[in-house]
Amino acid sequence: MSKTSNAMWGGRFATGPDAIMEAINASISFDKRLYAEDIEGSRAHAAMLAETGIVTDSDAAAIREGLLTIKSEIEAGDFPFSAALEDIHMNIEARLKELIGEPAGRLHTGRSRNDQVALDFRLWVRGQCDAAAEALTALIRALIARAEETADFVMPGFTHLQVAQPVTFGHHLMAYVEMFGRDLSRFRDARARMNESPLGAAALAGSSFPLDREATAQALGFDRPMANSMDAVADRDFALEYLSAASICAMHLSRLAEEMVIWSTAQFRFVAMSDAWSTGSSIMPQKRNPDAAELIRGKIGRVLGAQIALFTVMKGLPMTYGKDMQEDKEQTFDAADTLLLSLAAMEGMVASMTPDRAAMRASAALGFSTATDLADWLVRELGLPFRDAHHVTGALVAKAEGKGCDLPELTLEDMQEAHAGITAGIFDVLGVENSVASRKIYGGTAPDQVRAQVARWRGMLGT
Ligand code: ARG
Repeated sequence: MSKTSNAMWGGRFATGPDAIMEAINASISFDKRLYAEDIEGSRAHAAMLAETGIVTDSDAAAIREGLLTIKSEIEAGDFPFSAALEDIHMNIEARLKELIGEPAGRLHTGRSRNDQVALDFRLWVRGQCDAAAEALTALIRALIARAEETADFVMPGFTHLQVAQPVTFGHHLMAYVEMFGRDLSRFRDARARMNESPLGAAALAGSSFPLDREATAQALGFDRPMANSMDAVADRDFALEYLSAASICAMHLSRLAEEMVIWSTAQFRFVAMSDAWSTGSSIMPQKRNPDAAELIRGKIGRVLGAQIALFTVMKGLPMTYGKDMQEDKEQTFDAADTLLLSLAAMEGMVASMTPDRAAMRASAALGFSTATDLADWLVRELGLPFRDAHHVTGALVAKAEGKGCDLPELTLEDMQEAHAGITAGIFDVLGVENSVASRKIYGGTAPDQVRAQVARWRGMLGT
């Protein structure tokens, strides 16, 4: 049981908190992660206090210097974190007092832990938007490189995981580039919206000191101070937006990971995952398990869980700050770590996988994947209404099924039994290469379209 009253707010308290109270109340075990943001924010606040004449230049200089010393102590691993001092804000301020004495007590002028934590966490999440954007860019670059190499690798395209129409592997990879590209823009949008400074809101009502909120906002890289002091301390939308973008991104990663799991099975063999991203089995010597892909497939649970947790914490909270909001951090930290790890692992897997062109090609020819091309030919060449062409093609698929062959292996007589007008020209559209080459409209799977999209993305990423 800690029996000394808290040095920071203990003025009206005779004794310190019970041990269990301390355990539920303290956040230092996790919010120590905000130390750099806390020090950056405090240094900007101190400089502004001197600038506005609220504290002396020499006090501000001592504070700013002392904070740098604390930063080195933390980074060197010899900072005495204390649960009795609750959180990172009070741990740092208490240490500052030990280091510089009386001026340390002036740092908190015109400030509350409410605007302080809102600032620190916002700075941290803003940094995570940048980190996610950087990792996404690296993943997109890796996908683009592989898409270019495989722009003309024919594979089956699926709907319902049933063979639908032939596509190119490059086109399939570029579909993920579009998804991750939207993720990138979501992180950038969220960053732009969160880039306002809560500092100066103080506890909730603003400050009676003539703080220069523009100056601290600018020093910390914000576009402007937040316009409402109550919103400034109560808002966690920035973290929710970050987690929403992260959840969508983790969902995309999970889908691609699942494809890699499927592609690397003995039944598909479209892709071989590199040894570096696979593991063996302790009992079955033939196994190569795509563990990294499976883990990424599952990580969405943690990221989406963090988002739901924070929504649940925030719902129903009256203005302004409530201690509930201390529950905003741990899972956001975990989600951010999880996302960056998953993005890096996915980049490594994409860069090192070996697509098997022959296996994809063989699979593309199965399942009557050029039936639509046949129907389109009937419309184009014979002027059949599409519905009739669909019907004739269905009869031909049934015939091929009966003979145990694929559509290109039917004879011209077979074809003409289904429709007398069919000529040998029909065989030109039935090969899978012909099929993909014909889909050359903007956004289609034709190799040249894939290459055009690769070039467009290179242009946008500036490579
Ligand atoms: N550790 C707290 C948090 O993370 C800091 C803010 C505390 N503010 C307060 N009024 N008790 O939310």
